[in-house]
Amino acid sequence: MSLSPSTRVVVIGGTSGIGLAVAQAAAKAGAQVIVGSRSEQSVKRALSLLPGHAGGLPVDVTSAVSLESFFAQVGAFDHLVYTAGDALVRGVITDYDPQQAHDFFDIRLFRALDTVRRALATLHGSGSVTLTSGAAAFHGGTGRLLGSTVSAAVIAAARSLAAELAPLRVNVVAPGVVRTPLWSNMPEQAQKLLFDRAGGDTLLGRVADPEDVAKVYVSLMEQDYVTGNVAVVDGGSILK
Ligand SMILES: NC(=O)c1ccc[n+]([C@@H]2O[C@H](COP(=O)([O-])OP(=O)(O)OC[C@H]3O[C@@H](n4cnc5c(N)ncnc54)[C@H](OP(=O)(O)O)[C@@H]3O)[C@@H](O)[C@H]2O)c1
Repeated sequence: MSLSPSTRVVVIGGTSGIGLAVAQAAAKAGAQVIVGSRSEQSVKRALSLLPGHAGGLPVDVTSAVSLESFFAQVGAFDHLVYTAGDALVRGVITDYDPQQAHDFFDIRLFRALDTVRRALATLHGSGSVTLTSGAAAFHGGTGRLLGSTVSAAVIAAARSLAAELAPLRVNVVAPGVVRTPLWSNMPEQAQKLLFDRAGGDTLLGRVADPEDVAKVYVSLMEQDYVTGNVAVVDGGSILK
């Protein structure tokens, strides 16, 4: 069903990158959007980039109290989008550190599941959940050990959730490289090189902009008969 002014969409991680673009696209499609992330400043900045009817609240997905309070304040809603994530960790098996791996999985998988659990009381049963994975789930590759593993785990989790929570729909978006602030801890020149290389590895000759990926989240919210699905948004890099 198309998004409308009575449709309420919550985007956790909606203050930056992919999540902010999803919030903007959902608002443009007519929905009432509520964004959440840790920093009050990020929420304020995101709201300055969203239409006046959008809302936003701080939430830290690593805190049960914060999540409970966030969903209590938001009230009933129709679609949950989860795009929260922290800095990427690249490394090979000889670099493997179990604590670092656990931390890397924490926001992308463990807290995503906790967020879904705590949203259920107020999330409409005919709505949807969209989680975020990565096309690395299908590539693997040297240095991608943690990224590909957590991406595959998010997909597996979403399939089980889709079965368990139906008729609530649960889907996953698996982006390739997207030009977002996630990469901003890299020096500018290295970032440019990475985007050029990754863009060259796609069939479409460029990395994604957040808006390319956001459209797919909106489409998954609107597709009433799609659940347990993985939308790979990677410019065809899997085929190259
Ligand atoms: N960009 C890519 O190339 C790419 C490719 C494939 C997959 N992905 C995945 O897509 C997801 C989003 O990536 P992005 O590029 O949009 O990253 P981003 O621009 O850095 O955005 C991450 C968002 O997560 C929020 N966040 C971080 N920790 C949080 C916490 N504890 N509680 C609540 N919110 C939190 C951040 O806001 P605050 O700092 O205010 O909390 C921010 O809004 C990540 O899981 C990433 O791994 C990204």
